[in-house]
Amino acid sequence: MANCSIFENLVQRLASAGVSSPRLEARILIANILNVDPNSVTSGICIPPQSQKELENHVQRRLNHEPIDKIIGLKSFYKYTFLTSSDVLSPRPETEILLEKAIKLAKQNGFENTLELGVGSGCVLLSLLREISALKGVGVDVSKKALNVCKKNAEALGVEKRCKLVCKSWFDADFLSIFEHPFDLIVSNPPYIKTADIEKLEKEVWLFDPWVALDGGNDGLESYVQIAKLAPHLLKNKGYLLLEIGCGQMQDVKKTFEKQGLEYVTTLFDLAGIARVVVFSKEK
Ligand SMILES: C[S@@+](CC[C@H](N)C(=O)[O-])C[C@H]1O[C@@H](n2cnc3c(N)ncnc32)[C@H](O)[C@@H]1O
Repeated sequence: MANCSIFENLVQRLASAGVSSPRLEARILIANILNVDPNSVTSGICIPPQSQKELENHVQRRLNHEPIDKIIGLKSFYKYTFLTSSDVLSPRPETEILLEKAIKLAKQNGFENTLELGVGSGCVLLSLLREISALKGVGVDVSKKALNVCKKNAEALGVEKRCKLVCKSWFDADFLSIFEHPFDLIVSNPPYIKTADIEKLEKEVWLFDPWVALDGGNDGLESYVQIAKLAPHLLKNKGYLLLEIGCGQMQDVKKTFEKQGLEYVTTLFDLAGIARVVVFSKEK
């Protein structure tokens, strides 16, 4: 029998579990199961018997702190929707700051090629390629599973022909040998959480985002130190490097890249006033 009193009960259960937007999330969970627009889900919506078990399964996952985008497998980022899974970091709104700056610089300078270090779901690189049809991109990630998700997203956005994906770690001794040429623009949102702090994050993050996407080593800066050694070799003269950074890392990151000869350009802040993106250039 169809159940037409699930909605309000679901809102209550999500609210009691501490979900901050229980009404919105109830709508999204139901809409996903019924394959309808979330805006069409109203309080008296009826769930047919064949969908009730699956909905309850998704609700249980949410009550166990799994983020809603991992449950429904989709997340909006910038203008687009990306497939997500336990294999990739869920795209974050603050990363749009890096993307918007990258789009602006690429357009202003007529850039032709770009590299993303730690491409994950592809939300940054693929949005860039989708926005700028003349641009070609390479996305590198140590996680093969993440690259599988990225490949599907590239196909969904229709940019797969302009996007090369490579499975490689920037800590590999032969990392530079995989590249045939330097790049106009490099973007990266590397793992930047101190190892000891990961389990202090919300459960939604540390239980469900891949550890390799979060772990920045003992001081949170290990990937930046490595990328700083590589970037001068990978960047063209007059090229730009854009990095997302964690809270309180600005000065250390600035020093690390200046030490390798890159020129500091600017810092961009998020809505909370936290330094989020640092821009460097190569001037020779
Ligand atoms: C914070 S996530 C960013 C993902 C995506 N670019 C975004 O902004 O949503 C960092 C990414 O770097 C990758 N990564 C971590 N260590 C790496 C390494 N040593 N070499 C290459 N990729 C690495 C992770 O697998 C993950 O996909």
